[in-house]
This record gives sequence, structure tokens and C-alpha cells, in this order.
Amino acid sequence: MVSLVSLFTYVLTSLLFLCTHNTVQAIAQWPKGGSTRFYEFKVQMLQVNKLCNTRSIVTINQMYPGPVVYAQEDDRVIVKLTNETPYNATIHWHGVRQILSCWSDGPSYITQCPVQSGQTFTYEFTLIKQKGTLFWHAHFSWLRATVYGALIIYPKKGVPYPFKFPYEEHTVILGEYWQQDLVQLERSVMASGGTAPIADAYTINGHPGPNYNCSANDVYKINVVPGKTYMIRLIGALLNMESFFSIANHKLTIVEADGEYTKPFITDRVMLGPGQTLNVLVTADQKIGRYSMAMGPYMSAQNASFQNITSIAYFQYIGATPNSVAIPASLLPRFNDNLAVKTVMDGLKSLEIGQVPKEIDMNLFFTIGLNVNKCGSKTPNQNCQGVNGGVMAASMNNNSFIRPNISLLQAYYNHINGHFTEDFPGSPLKFYDFVNGAPNSAPNNTGSTNGTRTKVIEYGSRVQLILQDTGTVTTENHPIHLHGYSFYVVGYGSGNYNPQTATFNLVDPPYMNTIGVPVGGWAAIRFVADNPGVWFMHCHLEIHLTWGLSVALIVKNGQGPMETLPHPPADLPRC
Ligand code: C2O
Repeated sequence: MVSLVSLFTYVLTSLLFLCTHNTVQAIAQWPKGGSTRFYEFKVQMLQVNKLCNTRSIVTINQMYPGPVVYAQEDDRVIVKLTNETPYNATIHWHGVRQILSCWSDGPSYITQCPVQSGQTFTYEFTLIKQKGTLFWHAHFSWLRATVYGALIIYPKKGVPYPFKFPYEEHTVILGEYWQQDLVQLERSVMASGGTAPIADAYTINGHPGPNYNCSANDVYKINVVPGKTYMIRLIGALLNMESFFSIANHKLTIVEADGEYTKPFITDRVMLGPGQTLNVLVTADQKIGRYSMAMGPYMSAQNASFQNITSIAYFQYIGATPNSVAIPASLLPRFNDNLAVKTVMDGLKSLEIGQVPKEIDMNLFFTIGLNVNKCGSKTPNQNCQGVNGGVMAASMNNNSFIRPNISLLQAYYNHINGHFTEDFPGSPLKFYDFVNGAPNSAPNNTGSTNGTRTKVIEYGSRVQLILQDTGTVTTENHPIHLHGYSFYVVGYGSGNYNPQTATFNLVDPPYMNTIGVPVGGWAAIRFVADNPGVWFMHCHLEIHLTWGLSVALIVKNGQGPMETLPHPPADLPRC
């Protein structure tokens, strides 16, 4: 028996070695002391009963939300993904910096081909100097609507939180639920040229809550002890919406955003865009009862339709009468309360003084917004359901990104020509009054160019990027996410960015991976491009991503093994 066990351990260790040998050289110089966490992710269908209907949804391990990946700072994480569904799949580790492990980042057709039905792929990465709440989600078509889960990274052993240790921790994932097949849904939206149908429900940890049909018992609940303080790890896993969150009669103290500690900030409500995470502390200091935890829409665009039914969960004191009526969360702002969003943003400051780049090697300026392209179809009623009979699009610097049909990283790494160009403009070709002077009425052509354009960045460049919302079609808050990096949000404001009047915080700006660029405004971010690879940058509203609101940044290798992307893993899927 003993020998069998050791044989097994030996085989496992050799397998692990085979999987990791490419990065061994680099890992040799990484922080020591982390352990390895191994997870099996099976992409599987699951039957669920929601909103009076039974549906089959795509999940990991038949869990919805999916399994939590737990780790500690500096740990190595190995996740073997096996696809047992008819759909393609990949997993993206949202917020993980993937130092020298771009191959495991996960966006399909950017760093890998999707894992096809019946195939497997093993993700491997090290959580170098990362801790806090992140999450993982599918990155193929719209599958992330149901394929998501928390990634919780604890500080190293013996390292306390920079606040009083909470009595308990809970994870609250905000989502959107559709009764349709999500891959089908993306296809039909694309074919229509129009906008996406609204979600059938908002969900808290997968539960719509009592405001929805047939959902009186489909509700998430946290039981709390009076007087104790709880940490809630809030995760924005929404698809096409941004969302407010509040707990009736209770204050929320933000202590972490996107996996980085912040100065404590007390607020009645928060807003999470898809891709954003916040840790908040809540003290059960009210009279014994059942309180609503509520999630409602934040929609900053004009004339957009959206689901307007609030999703409710319970924050329930031990000792409350079990079926008591919940005290409603009256503090949820109106759906277009931009000020509520700004107030929280103003409150976000890094706990410590940051390593903000003071000098800049590369100045970038990207506009972000929507477009309407001319109808080119012979059946406009079917295919041109966008504004004014056009086809909806979205763009950065007026280019709608076309996703390639092989992985960009492979094409770049292996010098395969013809799949992308390196001519993404570092600033708009035309400067105009982006916010107010946008050509958004019927006779104007608001069309975008199309292409798989990338921006190449030299290793080690200190980059400043201004993200500027445009008013073409409509201004809107866009949650812009950068893969492979966190960045300092050094400034933001409303209107057009003006370097003369913009004020920057170079001392303690928040260090984030997703920034909600203010509606009709701008945000300035800074980072050092010290992680080689092909990194997707996109709006995390899935419909905007589908329409082309993205770009791929190619960060070149530097010198020596610590600045060079290792070879691709042997099991990298083929397209
Ligand atoms: Cu959370 Cu490219 O995504």
C-alpha cells in the first residue's frame, strides 16, 4: 500500500514537473514559500429550476455559481479544465497578473484557442504578490453569464488583514440570468445588428430572490449574529449591466477594491461593474430582524432598456422571526444616479502610498464608445435592427476589433503572418468634442473601421493611458478591463480630457484591473509594462465586447529569462 502511494506521488510530481518545466527557470527567482493548489474544473451542463422554468445551463462541476478557488499569496495554482459540454470553453482568471504566464490567461482567440468539446487544458499560474478577492469566468462567447466563481487569495500565514478580523466572511456574486442558450443569444444578437435583449433576472449568488416569479424560495441568505462584523466579498459577475448594491439600514465600509487594500471608506451603497470586486465590512448593529441585501440596475446610457426588478437576498439576524417581512433596501439609488457612482469612486484610495510611475515613456489616448455602421444586408429588417436602420458596433479609437480565428498570442509568438496588424493608433485620428460634438444623429455616418489591430509596447515602458468616453449614439459608463496588469487610476473626470485642467493623484490612487470610465467623461491610468505577452483590453459589458470595444496590447520581451515569455504549454488547444 505504502509503495503504491509513493509511486502515485512520484508519478504526480513528475507530471507536475512536465507541466511546469517551461517556467521552472523563471520560477526559480520568484518568491519562495508558496504551496501549489490543484483544482479539477469540469465544464458540465446542469439542470436548474429558475423563474418557473427548467433549463440546462453551462457550469463548472455542476455548480452555479462555480467552485471557489482558494489560495494564499504567492501560491501556484493549477487548474485542469475538461470540457464535457458541446460548447467551446476557456477560463479567464480575472485580475490575476499572470506574470510570465500569458498562455494561461484564458481569453479565447487572444491567448489560446478554445478548449473544444471532450478536450482538456491545464491552467498554471503563480499569484505573485497578489491577495484579496478576484474571480474567474468563462471567456468564450457569452458563457460567462453562468460560468463564474470566486478566486479568494488569503494573505500569507501570520499576516493579518489591515482591519479588525471579521467574525465571518461571505462571498456575494452579482450576476444576470438568461433563459436562452447564451452562445445562441450572442449569435442572434450579432445577426440582428441590434442591441441585446435584457436579462430575465438579476441574481445574487445565482438566486433571483422574492421579487421574481416562482422565486420566493430561490433566495440567498446570510445569517448574522447581532453585534458582529462581517466581511462581504462582492463580485461583479454581471454580463451586460452595471449594478448598485446596498443592505437596508446598514453601512458598508469598503476596505479592498479589485484585490488591493483601500483606505476604509464608509458608504450606504456601492456600484459594481462587471469585472469589479469590492470587500466591504458590515456590522450587524441594527435591531434584530431580516434586512434586504439588494442589487439594482445602474444604466448610464440614454434610451437603453434593462431589467428593472431588484434582486433581493437576506441579511438575517439570528433570532429574527423566520418568515418576517424583509426590511426593504430603500437606499438603492435611481438607475441613472451618476453622482452615487462618483461619490464612491472619490472615496477609493489605496491604503498605502503606491508605486505610481511619475515619468511616462508612452502616452496613449483611446476613445471608447458606440457606433452605427451602414446596413450592408439585402434583408435589412433581419440584419440591421440598430439605431436608424444601421448595424450596432463599438470601438476604441474608432476601430472595432475583429477577433481572429487563431490565438493572437500563438500568431505573435510563432510569427504567423496575416492574422493581425500592429497599427492600432496611439491616439484618435481625429480630435473633436468627443462628448458633446459626437455625430449621433440620423444623417451622420458614425461608422467605425474594422480590424485586428494591436498596439505594441516595449518591455518596461511606463505607460499613461487616457480613456475617453464618446457621445456617439450615447455616452455611457464603460467598465474597461486590462488583462495581465493592475493599473493606477490617477485621475478621472467628466467631459473631455484636458491636460491643462486635469488633476492627478500620484500618491495613493486605487490600483485596479477594471475602471468604470465615467459616463461622458475620462479616466487616466498608469502602469509599467513589465509583463510580456498579448493582453486583451476591453469593455467588460459583453455586448460591447461583441461589438468590438477592445484592443490587444502586445508587450514585448525584455532581457533574460525573467523578462521573457516562456514557451507555450504542450497541451495548448488547437483551433
Ligand atoms: Cu473578466 Cu477579458 O475579462
